[in-house]
Amino acid sequence: DAAEKGEYRHYMLKEIHEQPRVIKATMEGRVTDSRVLEQALGIEAGELLQDVRHVQIIACGTSYHAGMVARYWIEDLAGVPCSVEVASEFRYRKHVIQKDTLFLCISQSGETADTLAALRQAKKAGFRAALAICNVPGSSLVRESDLVIMTQAGPEIGVASTKAFTTQLTALLIFSLALARKNGLSAEREADIVKALHLVPGQVSDVLALEGEIAEMSERFVEKNHALFLGRGSQFPVAMEGALKLKEISYIHAEAYPAGELKHGPLALVDSEMPVITVAPNNSMAEKLKSNLEEVRARGGELFVFADRAANVKPEENIHVVQLPEVHEITAPIVYTVPLQLLSYHVAVLKGTDVDQPRNLAKSVTVE
Ligand code: G6P
Repeated sequence: DAAEKGEYRHYMLKEIHEQPRVIKATMEGRVTDSRVLEQALGIEAGELLQDVRHVQIIACGTSYHAGMVARYWIEDLAGVPCSVEVASEFRYRKHVIQKDTLFLCISQSGETADTLAALRQAKKAGFRAALAICNVPGSSLVRESDLVIMTQAGPEIGVASTKAFTTQLTALLIFSLALARKNGLSAEREADIVKALHLVPGQVSDVLALEGEIAEMSERFVEKNHALFLGRGSQFPVAMEGALKLKEISYIHAEAYPAGELKHGPLALVDSEMPVITVAPNNSMAEKLKSNLEEVRARGGELFVFADRAANVKPEENIHVVQLPEVHEITAPIVYTVPLQLLSYHVAVLKGTDVDQPRNLAKSVTVE
């Protein structure tokens, strides 16, 4: 039964381990070996995507971080301008929506009050169509949207979202590719990325196999009161999601920064009491990121780096490195999310918090 914890101590851990399967399920029927099937996004999807000149993403919490990653994909692959905003801000400000905008709401539950209110308001202002990325069939969001991509995460019980997030990313990458094809993405680049997407479930399994190593690392966080998460490019929202997970379940204050902003403030906080967690795949930003890490090290900070072999980050005193599999730059945000989930989980277990039901939080916030 999907609602049982089975062999796992917490729902959250079970849900983290389900990710290879549910990511695969979210791809099923939507991608071939080498391309995205745009009809799988809906009968009208082809015509509709043709008209889209701008994408406005709205979401809350973890779903907002998925939207932040998607912006990198939409602008990079499709060349279509994309804005991302939290629903609770969007709904209370005067906003401008162009007619050819695709209004994209991301929500695990499909019942988040702020997200629904933002959609209803935007409807009054007018847009080309509303697309929902959602995990609950028949939810209000699904019923009120023109196009829907259902994530196949299955029921998520843990309040801290894990598998919903990585399946949202999967759905968002499929959407970004479909939109990109209408905007000149070559068949070769599409095939290259779709092939990389097929590798993700296996890569996530490889990361899950590192759980023991990550659990050991988590011991170094138990006595800490603050943590800083760093990432650059599409890894910045991954860092934000990592910080949110740590806050939610271990009650350690955590902040995420794009590493290039370190020098504009957070560097002043760095000392031996402030662990700095970094997601550092070997991508176009790797060299710049490494010089940011050097800035932290020079100030006595303790670094925890998740990187692939090619990134060539050497373990030293005060630099702990967990080596992740080599991944395609586009799919890397999905894979690099997983070790941060495991880290937060094990810190919370060591601290003895209520992992599945953290204090003051709700799974779905259906009232304002
Ligand atoms: C709550 C949950 C979060 C979730 C957010 C948005 O804060 O605790 O895990 O990310 O709501 O929920 P949604 O269902 O709209 O994705």
